[in-house]
Amino acid sequence: MIEKINQLLAEIETLQAANAEELEALRIKYLSKKGIINELMADFRNVPAEQKKEVGMRLNELKSKAQARIAALKDAFESQDTECDDIDLTRTAYPVGLGTRHPLTLVKNEIIDIFARMGFNISEGPEVEDDLHVYTKLNFAADHPARDMQDTFFVEVNDEDVTRNIILRSHTSSVQVRSMEHAQPPIRIICPGRVYRNEAISYRAHCFFHQVEGLYVDKNVSFADLKQVLLMFAQEMFGSDTRIRLRPSYFPFTEPSAEMDISCNICGGKGCPFCKHTGWVEILGCGMVDPNVLDACGIDSKVYSGYALGMGIERIANLKYRVSDLRLFSENDTRFLREFEAAL
Ligand code: DAH
Repeated sequence: MIEKINQLLAEIETLQAANAEELEALRIKYLSKKGIINELMADFRNVPAEQKKEVGMRLNELKSKAQARIAALKDAFESQDTECDDIDLTRTAYPVGLGTRHPLTLVKNEIIDIFARMGFNISEGPEVEDDLHVYTKLNFAADHPARDMQDTFFVEVNDEDVTRNIILRSHTSSVQVRSMEHAQPPIRIICPGRVYRNEAISYRAHCFFHQVEGLYVDKNVSFADLKQVLLMFAQEMFGSDTRIRLRPSYFPFTEPSAEMDISCNICGGKGCPFCKHTGWVEILGCGMVDPNVLDACGIDSKVYSGYALGMGIERIANLKYRVSDLRLFSENDTRFLREFEAAL
């Protein structure tokens, strides 16, 4: 019996299987109920008593070695990935096309960065707004002609009472209102976002575009503070030799109000077709927050003052990249978008 066991032990060491069927055949041959090892176990009762101890130990050894060998063959077999045999791991990878950032995102991020360095935080608000936040609290009288100027989109709501009240925001100044409603000064925020106006789409107008709004409210905020921030912004954005000028203007929510021009960054102020030979190009609106707006938003206008500013991101992008047709920004033509690959 011992001899038989030794012979089987040697045999087991050399077992091989080329596929799952061969492996199963081996398992059946050695380890199944009617397999060789179980038959030996059955013969065990015929072993003379004085040999029982040794034979028993050898039999157990045989069984565990057979199990281990078959398990090892199975493992080797399963880890072998037959489908990957023909992959050439040394071949150069296919180039993966990286996306580009949209030019408006690039410009928006640059504006945010500049203002963030001056201590402004980002604030965002809803695009679907109500009249209160877009106009009324910003000091637009109910019959103010500026409401028409903004070419507002109205959102149809089933309830007749609110039909003319739910609108798509026509400027990001609504975020000023929401921020002031929810916080007391000091408030120093910039609000980037998309705005909507009912305009015919052409190379120079679109029914949606993007703005960045700025607001600073605190004690003793003055027009001089506004001017300094505007100069810093213009020089960071368009170069350190950029000059600014402020022209008096009108917005319902600021008093006094101004529009800011920068020295034309294309001709350096000498005059060219882009600046219509004036040497200046307009880039934003601004002013001191009207006390009525502060009061409407729950901020005491006798204690606090503030300035606000607002600019179109497309306008700044045009100045930076000279995009001649506004529609290119929303058409997703990859030939156009790819031009900004290097600007990442
Ligand atoms: N909301 C104005 C617009 O859409 C832009 C603007 C002008 C924003 C003056 C301001 C501001 O905060 O002070 O045309």
